[in-house]
Amino acid sequence: MDILIIGGGGREHAIAWKVSKSNKVRNIYVAPGNPGIKSENKVHLIEVKDPKVEDYLKIAKEKNIDLTIVGPEAPLVEGIVDEFIKNNLLIFGPNKLAAQLEGSKNFCKKILNSGNIPTAKHQSFTDSKTATNYIKDHNMPIVVKADGLAAGKGVFIMNNYEETCELINDLFDGKIDGIKTSLIIIEEFLKGEEASFICLVSGDQIIPLASSKDHKKLSNGDLGPNTGGMGAYSPTKLIDSKTTNMVIDKIISPTLNELKKIGIEYKGFLYAGLMIDEYKNPFVLEYNCRLGDPEAQAILMRLESDIVDMFLGVANDNLDNIDIKWKNESACTVVLASKGYPGKYEKEKRIEGLDHKVNDTKIFHSGTKTNDGFFVTNGGRVLSVTALGVNLQVAQAKAYDRCNQISWEGKIKRHDIGEKEITNKFIFS
Ligand code: AMP
Ligand code: GLY
Repeated sequence: MDILIIGGGGREHAIAWKVSKSNKVRNIYVAPGNPGIKSENKVHLIEVKDPKVEDYLKIAKEKNIDLTIVGPEAPLVEGIVDEFIKNNLLIFGPNKLAAQLEGSKNFCKKILNSGNIPTAKHQSFTDSKTATNYIKDHNMPIVVKADGLAAGKGVFIMNNYEETCELINDLFDGKIDGIKTSLIIIEEFLKGEEASFICLVSGDQIIPLASSKDHKKLSNGDLGPNTGGMGAYSPTKLIDSKTTNMVIDKIISPTLNELKKIGIEYKGFLYAGLMIDEYKNPFVLEYNCRLGDPEAQAILMRLESDIVDMFLGVANDNLDNIDIKWKNESACTVVLASKGYPGKYEKEKRIEGLDHKVNDTKIFHSGTKTNDGFFVTNGGRVLSVTALGVNLQVAQAKAYDRCNQISWEGKIKRHDIGEKEITNKFIFS
């Protein structure tokens, strides 16, 4: 088979790496990919500048692609799946209506509420006066979310009334970089431990992937601004078999039912960002319609089965014969990022130390490019350094050892990926 993968970050690198191991696959085209992805077997990069759905369609037709896999959310929310299906092309991912679960926080909240699915209490607002009035009677902290895609930057946890009013005004006035919204959501702040629950869905069939946990805040101890994710590991005891069953029964199945009631069938990865409270009850913080980044890097490092079978099972509406096997070891992924991220960051810094070969470690490229034959930084998140170990402590130590062999001017990372799990510091431990 010839496969097209859309995207060019660490998650897509992990997907391409796993796809390259399938003996069903002859060529892997990745648009746009990155130089790390290019170094995998069978991979050819296809340059695309500001691509639209039509551009991907053209590539799939020209290259006679048998199956297209969409990594990031934006093309899904734009409706790439609908267009491919119209053109009789096999594609993995939810269609445009289903992808609203991630594309619109307001749509997501409506589904959660109509299905009585545990989530933070919220109100939606389309003007700043009503919104600022509403928060007068509320305790802090309070969470303000801009509707629409914002690459992890549209969520604000606020501790002070005046600052929240200012934020609300700025959001509606379009004064916050990268965010355009005419609707905001204000919701109660949930306390607990976050975990990522990602499953493979085809209609009514749900197969949970290995459990994982991301680290969304920039700095050690979960401090600082939200990011796309600074590191992840798999598995996590936050999601044991009891919690898994509870999440499927109380969260995932009712969500799929609510979608079905309005004529939407979900297919693809469904990722619930969960807050697990002190009584171990899970609440939905958000839905994503794709694999997490960097969760994918940790999860796929542990995958033993052929990933292409999973994609084909969903694209062909049949997960009956899909039995996903995972390595018993733990995987830990540490993100190396550029100074300034998640704000304005530096680029074009020469990266050293990528050539060492260390057993059980894999470096996924997120934001790199090549200049004169050298790797240089080209993004906020630059590399996702992933290691396998007999347990999380061993995986964590190997990942950090590998991180320390890599350098560039202004490299930043968190030093505590997985630490809370290793030291049993969860609120209910
Ligand atoms: P979201 O994009 O909605 O997942 O939000 C990004 C991050 O903001 C989450 O990963 C949480 O760390 C935090 N967050 C979002 N909603 C809440 C909430 N209601 N209570 C506490 N933290 C939240
Ligand atoms: N790691 C969080 C996300 O992919 O949304």
